[in-house]
Amino acid sequence: MFKIPFFKKNKNKTDHIDHIENVPEHVAIIMDGNGRWAKKKGLPRFAGHKQGMDNVRNIVRRANNRGIKILTMYAFSTENWKRPRDEVDYIMKLPKEFIHNYLPELIQENVRIQTIGDFNLLPAHTKQAVNEAKERTKSNDGLILNIALNYGSRGEILQAVQQLVKEVESDKLSPDTIDEQVLAKYLYTTGLKDPDLVIRTSGEQRLSNFLLWQVAYAEFWFTDKYWPDFDDEAFDKALLDYQNRKRRFGGLTNKK
Ligand code: FPP
Repeated sequence: MFKIPFFKKNKNKTDHIDHIENVPEHVAIIMDGNGRWAKKKGLPRFAGHKQGMDNVRNIVRRANNRGIKILTMYAFSTENWKRPRDEVDYIMKLPKEFIHNYLPELIQENVRIQTIGDFNLLPAHTKQAVNEAKERTKSNDGLILNIALNYGSRGEILQAVQQLVKEVESDKLSPDTIDEQVLAKYLYTTGLKDPDLVIRTSGEQRLSNFLLWQVAYAEFWFTDKYWPDFDDEAFDKALLDYQNRKRRFGGLTNKK
């Protein structure tokens, strides 16, 4: 199938685009390698997380510029509580710092902030900052920045099943009517299209309990770059690669 080039011909710079076709609507990113990035530079792990946070801003800007509609970023998993207390405390301060530093710009760019995950266990200051950002961006209809905070996919599916059982027990739902669409409504991602592309940085190639249900037909892209080094060019590489994938969703359409 003929593809219109993603990058303008005769230009080395990747920020000149002639035409974008086949852009993933929803990109989900596992931001890995902050600690190793810091270690490589002789810095404490915190410095890696701080740089990682600033890079979220860069990639949101690029995603917006490339016409992506939803960007889901894995910021903190339900398993990350196992980390040393001071590291957890530091990561929990980052949403507030991110919002403080970047919310005005994000509002200007019509970005809407949402989250997925179990909010209950988050510190009050984290919840408060995130809730304020959600509230202040709720009528924006541009890119959705969906931050996965205290997120775990198995837990998400489990709480969906628990809610469904309660609905059945109270006769609000009949078991025969529960199909994939109904179950998906009880996930944190309700209303969001499933990811088209999943990116993981730092050379690891696993899902780590991220969106297990939702990525059933997603494309995957891995890079050795640590998250703080994942720049516009690396992002464009992933998009270009995606652009040339043939998605068949189990069928035969477009098969050569
Ligand atoms: C994984 O790297 C990264 C995390 C667990 C934290 C990710 C958080 C951010 C990038 C900032 C959050 C941003 C916002 C907007 C809230 P790692 O620490 O596991 O790295 P390592 O595997 O090299 O040790």
